[in-house]
Parts: sequence; structure tokens; C-alpha cells
Amino acid sequence: MSGAHRSVLLDEAVAVVCGLDDGAAGAPVRDGIYVDATFGRGGHTRALLALLGRDSLVIAVDRDPEAIAAGMALAAEDARLRMVHGNFADLDELLDALSIESVQGVLMDLGVSSPQLDDAVRGFSFRHDAPLDMRMDTSRGPTAAQWLNTAEEADIARVLKTYGEERYARRIAAAIVAARPLATTGELAELVRSAQPRPTPGKHPATRVFQAVRMQVNDELGSLTRGLSAAFDRLAPGGRLAVITFHSLEDRLVKRFFRELASPPPVPRGVPVRGDAAAPRARMVGRSRVPGEAETAANPRARSARLRVLEKAA
Ligand SMILES: C[S@@+](CC[C@H](N)C(=O)[O-])C[C@H]1O[C@@H](n2cnc3c(N)ncnc32)[C@H](O)[C@@H]1O
Repeated sequence: MSGAHRSVLLDEAVAVVCGLDDGAAGAPVRDGIYVDATFGRGGHTRALLALLGRDSLVIAVDRDPEAIAAGMALAAEDARLRMVHGNFADLDELLDALSIESVQGVLMDLGVSSPQLDDAVRGFSFRHDAPLDMRMDTSRGPTAAQWLNTAEEADIARVLKTYGEERYARRIAAAIVAARPLATTGELAELVRSAQPRPTPGKHPATRVFQAVRMQVNDELGSLTRGLSAAFDRLAPGGRLAVITFHSLEDRLVKRFFRELASPPPVPRGVPVRGDAAAPRARMVGRSRVPGEAETAANPRARSARLRVLEKAA
């Protein structure tokens, strides 16, 4: 198992969430309370702590108990860090439990970490043969095997099609149901390989299916929808929400959420509106950003990353 995770868009994401980047030369770091909603192995948290002053606080959240355990040593060294085990979808409750009403910034770096992918027993990867688990939070919820062994064939096909954009979703779903019960990543990978008549060249045939099942098992889009709303509600005026996505479904969701908040609220025709009631609740901070060539060459996982940033109206 590897403990390393290369953080994506590290400097850009951390600077912009702290208010440093906006074309405003010499803008001050905004000290205050920040949430790193996806601690992982703490790359972004460390960079945040390095930028922020003595009176700031970073609340680091992760749904993976191993990520929280990995962060405890850092929290023991730096009193400005609190580690919190939970789903960012429940950010309201997590902040209530700490008696925190509002925060200056929230950062989300979505998806899975390299330690999760590299640790065979987590069952995220078709590259290792291991129990089919795929839960980010190993303390709750059904595993991938439990879901695949009990779901309706039509549901499996829908998940593979929607979350994996898998062309042969129905054929693979039928093969899964015929082969049940499945227990290991190796069985699933082999079954997908034999059910796909024409795999995409250059891609492992099980890539899309593993992504789709992982998104289902962890309710990734549902958590993101709730997490974005909770994070925006908790931002202080002028506070920023920065999100790094890794595939088009996530990015579309974030883009729509940001666009709606950055547009004037709809008003029924003919109804007189006071000036501030017609003002958008937020603004986008610049365009979306993607990693440069040097970063993608050094870290292939960065290739699909995209950072979007929203600032709550002051
Ligand atoms: C890409 S990694 C984050 C890496 C981190 N930024 C770093 O630099 O080390 C994503 C992490 O977010 C966690 N995660 C994903 N979805 C989550 C959610 N809904 N709530 C809390 N944590 C989540 C995963 O368990 C994983 O550890």
C-alpha cells in the first residue's frame, strides 16, 4: 500500500480559496475559518495552513476513517487543525457540532485518493484482486459486492450507463446478474472483459464499470449536490467555494450550481423588484482552470481535473 497522494492544482486552489487570486495584485490572505472537505492525505490542508495566520482554523473533513487517522499526527502538531470524520453532504451538522456558524472558504477535491486506489483491500481497483468493497467510508453502508448481488438488473444497467457512460451497460448488467454472487474485483473485471465485444482501445475494459459502481456505492453525485448547498449556505459574505472535479458528470453539476447562484434570481413578470433583490447571490471567480502541461506530465491523474470557484456576495 502506498501512502502518497499527489495533490492536484495545489497552489492555485489554495490561493484562490483564501482570496489571493483575482487579478487583485497584493490582495491579503483572508484569515478565518476554512473547511477542507476532502482531506485525503492533507496536501491542500498543509498548503492552507502554510498560508493562513495564527488565528485561523482549518476544519478537515473526510468520510474515510483512514484519511482521518492519517491527519491526526498533523493535528497534534498544529492547533489550527481539527480533523472531522464525516460526509461533506452533512456539513451543516458537522459544523453545528463544532459550534461554527460560518466559514471563510470551503475546498472540495473530489474523487478518491491514491492510497485508496493503491490499497488492494479497499477494492477500488481492477488492477488488484481483492474483495469488492469500494466504500470510502468503511464504517457504514453496503459494499460494492452487496449492491451488485442484490440490485435489479435494470438498476445496474442504468448505473453503468449514467455514471460510467458504458456502451454495453445492458449486456454487462445481464452478465453480472447471471454470474451472481460476485465477491472480488478480479471476478468483476473478468466478467466485464468477456461481456464487452469491442473495448475502447487504450483503456482497461473495466474502467468505466468500476467508476460507475464506485459512484453508486458512495452516492457521489447525491453527496456533491447536498455538499455544495451546505457549503454555500455556510459561507460568510465574500467567502469562497472552490471545487476540483475529475469527470464531466461532477463538473456539469458544479457548473450548473455555480451558474444559477451567479445569475440574477428569476422574478415573475410585472412584479416590481427592489435593486438588491435582483442581484445575484454570488459571482464566479475567473474562468474554470485546468492543470498545466508540467502538472499533467508529472501526475497523469491531473489530466481530467478542473477547478471552479464561486464567491458569495458581500
Ligand atoms: C482526491 S482525494 C483528496 C486529496 C487531498 N486534497 C490531498 O491533497 O491529499 C479525495 C478525498 O475525499 C474524500 N471524499 C470523497 N467524497 C467525500 C465526501 N462526500 N465527504 C467527505 N469526504 C469525501 C475521499 O475519501 C478522499 O480521501
